[in-house]
Amino acid sequence: AHGPVVDRQSWTFAGPFGKFDKAQLQRGYKVYKEVCSACHSMKYVSFRNLAEEGGPGFTADQAKALASGYKVQDGPNDSGDMFERAGRLSDRFPSPFPNEQAARAANGGAYPPDMSLLAKARAVHRGFPWFVFDAFTQYQEYGPDYIYSLLLGYKDAPKGHECGPGLNYNTSFISGSCIAMPQPISDGQVTYDDGTPGTLQNYARDVSAFLMWTAEPKLEERKRVGLKVMLFLVVFAGLLYYTKQKVWKDIA
Ligand code: HEM
Repeated sequence: AHGPVVDRQSWTFAGPFGKFDKAQLQRGYKVYKEVCSACHSMKYVSFRNLAEEGGPGFTADQAKALASGYKVQDGPNDSGDMFERAGRLSDRFPSPFPNEQAARAANGGAYPPDMSLLAKARAVHRGFPWFVFDAFTQYQEYGPDYIYSLLLGYKDAPKGHECGPGLNYNTSFISGSCIAMPQPISDGQVTYDDGTPGTLQNYARDVSAFLMWTAEPKLEERKRVGLKVMLFLVVFAGLLYYTKQKVWKDIA
């Protein structure tokens, strides 16, 4: 028996000084939009998020233009009808299917999970006591490592391990070696605007980074504040020590 193969990657957002690479998030967004969004929803992310601090760094006008390229359900209007209109900054990303049943029906019974929090949902899957240590270690990046590995994990099944109909062999899938998602992306499928080579490896890295951002949009702020807190605590500890020495100097 073997566990899922998950390759550690070095991410720009790792560590106490970590920050997202904006160009990478923009490329990842393109991969999500052109490939993943055909099956996966991302219903907790709004178009306005694309232009927010600590994200892919689109300008408000760019985000507005991206939003208006989507059709969004709205209504009911004055006559009680639902209608379609162009997306606005305040809208969330529309889902590819109206509900889970429809999504399953289109995917051979399997449900493509919502992508908003996927990088976090797959972040740590070790039980007690390991998760205690995992919270402080490399396992923080397990989610994007996993998504990256999954996209590169489609291999020919070894003899005797062939998958059933509608399933695909994958060496990185968490729940067994057969996954319902067919290999979604391969070399050359998406054309990057910034000259980055369109390889499967780049797509996988970029979309994984993008999904880390959708799952943790406040990552940069959290790390920035965390550093300030640590710095404050160090200075404060010094002041306390100095004060203590002064207060007790005639007694000790
Ligand atoms: C599941 C990523 C495109 C259909 C998943 C999972 C991830 C993922 C991380 C969860 C695996 C797990 O449970 O641990 C992606 C990415 C895509 C993409 C990054 C774009 C590059 C697609 C497309 C389809 C699809 C285009 C439909 C043709 C599914 C289905 C599942 C799934 C049906 C459920 C699999 C199962 O439970 O066996 N995907 N996906 N995905 N995806 Fe995708």
